[in-house]
Amino acid sequence: MNNLYPIFLKIEHQPVLVVGGGKVAEQKINGLIEANADVTVIAPTISAMIAGLAAAGKIKLHVRGYKPGDVQGFFIVISAADDGSVQERVFKDAQERKVPVNVVDKPELCNFHLSSVFQKGDLKIAVSTNGKSPTLGKIIRDKIAEEFFDDYPELLKTLGEMRPDVQKTFPDFESRKKLHEQIVRTELDRLQSNAEEGNEIDEDSVTQGKVYLVGAGPGDPELITVKGQRLLRTAEVVLYDALISTDLLSLVPESAEKFYVGKRADAHCVKQEEINRLLIKRAQEGMRVIRLKGGDPFIFGRGGEELEALQESGIEVEVVPGITAGIGVPTSLGIPLTYRKESSSIAFVTGHEDPTKHEEQVDWDSVSHADTIVVYMGIKRLRFIVEHLISCGVSPMKPVVVIFGGTLAQEIVVAGTLEDIEDRVRDNQSDLPGLIIIGDVVQFPDRITAAKKKLQLLESGFVESFR
Ligand SMILES: C[S@@+](CC[C@H](N)C(=O)[O-])C[C@H]1O[C@@H](n2cnc3c(N)ncnc32)[C@H](O)[C@@H]1O
Repeated sequence: MNNLYPIFLKIEHQPVLVVGGGKVAEQKINGLIEANADVTVIAPTISAMIAGLAAAGKIKLHVRGYKPGDVQGFFIVISAADDGSVQERVFKDAQERKVPVNVVDKPELCNFHLSSVFQKGDLKIAVSTNGKSPTLGKIIRDKIAEEFFDDYPELLKTLGEMRPDVQKTFPDFESRKKLHEQIVRTELDRLQSNAEEGNEIDEDSVTQGKVYLVGAGPGDPELITVKGQRLLRTAEVVLYDALISTDLLSLVPESAEKFYVGKRADAHCVKQEEINRLLIKRAQEGMRVIRLKGGDPFIFGRGGEELEALQESGIEVEVVPGITAGIGVPTSLGIPLTYRKESSSIAFVTGHEDPTKHEEQVDWDSVSHADTIVVYMGIKRLRFIVEHLISCGVSPMKPVVVIFGGTLAQEIVVAGTLEDIEDRVRDNQSDLPGLIIIGDVVQFPDRITAAKKKLQLLESGFVESFR
């Protein structure tokens, strides 16, 4: 029987206890901090993230085992301890003291459940499965989010603003309720007819078509934007680059045309003019065309030229940003491109200039003054880049990391200094696209993720050492 009574708790500034210091506790703590709760954590061992939150003053932390009575005085308690006997003790204590408690993954030790939440503005939709399957709850929540009617949060805001006036003018609860119902229904009808009109306009304008230049992110398919993902699901034509994940392409309807137009280093398979022509042609035929590009469409991706060609042909275009490799790859490795004490400027440069240009356009002297230098398409010219930077006064001992296939399962990280990076890269060649990062931040002391990579790489024999 489902005898849950759904409520939304106001836990802002309320004392909440989390027992446990691992990954699960982290998730709960983050949600509670977002809701502005006054969070206390008790755990004998804690993750680096929890330690960081305590150091930043976001939570109160007691690094010790749970003691009977710890639950006293808390508004709610969430237990994510690893030890089953601690879980049971927390539940028993909380029951005795009438403090609501949730023991993660133990529905029988909960007197409230946490739900999968979708939030947009003031609207919050919570899905409960009565503790039977949080995973299904999340899937249902995602479906609601996908179907979500964009105008509701705005409508909610307007209704919220009207509410005090309606309350004043209609002191009687029943008449207020009726009025609210009338307003909401009228507004919903209006939104519905607007949406239908919009659809009709869309159908009429099918003759025009539209092109979306969509950034797919650095490689990991989960790093595309929600908007990019939504557009792929409704595409009629997709032109995609090299290294676009098959997971992303599987989102595209089967009926859609898919064109691989990837370019890898010297192996250009479809010329840029050809790509532009195809984009224009399909849009003129009334298609909804997605040009799916690695990283961000406008960072060393020739997205600007595609935009220009489409606009010149009078085609409607929308650009959807993506996470560029130069940011996504180092961030996913735990390398902060800016860091208070070490880096307050970054230069993003291409190592591969357009061969039709007669002289080098990158001003390596200016670039050498940036604290952190991120070089795209530079692997083939690594020696030239290294020599230029050293001749511009950068120390030969400056730390460098070269990452091939960043954020992908096959990622390879090669670390060294300006002086020896070329040799190290030669020993660890890869066909995957490579990014060069030069600067002290690649030695960032808390490179937790990077340290893990190092371990994997050392184990797999890819990298000799990771400084
Ligand atoms: C033609 S540029 C395209 C850049 C893309 N528009 C972006 O914003 O990331 C290709 C270069 O990006 C870098 N790159 C792209 N994806 C990468 C990845 N997953 N790992 C390392 N470098 C990557 C490499 O330097 C590669 O040669």
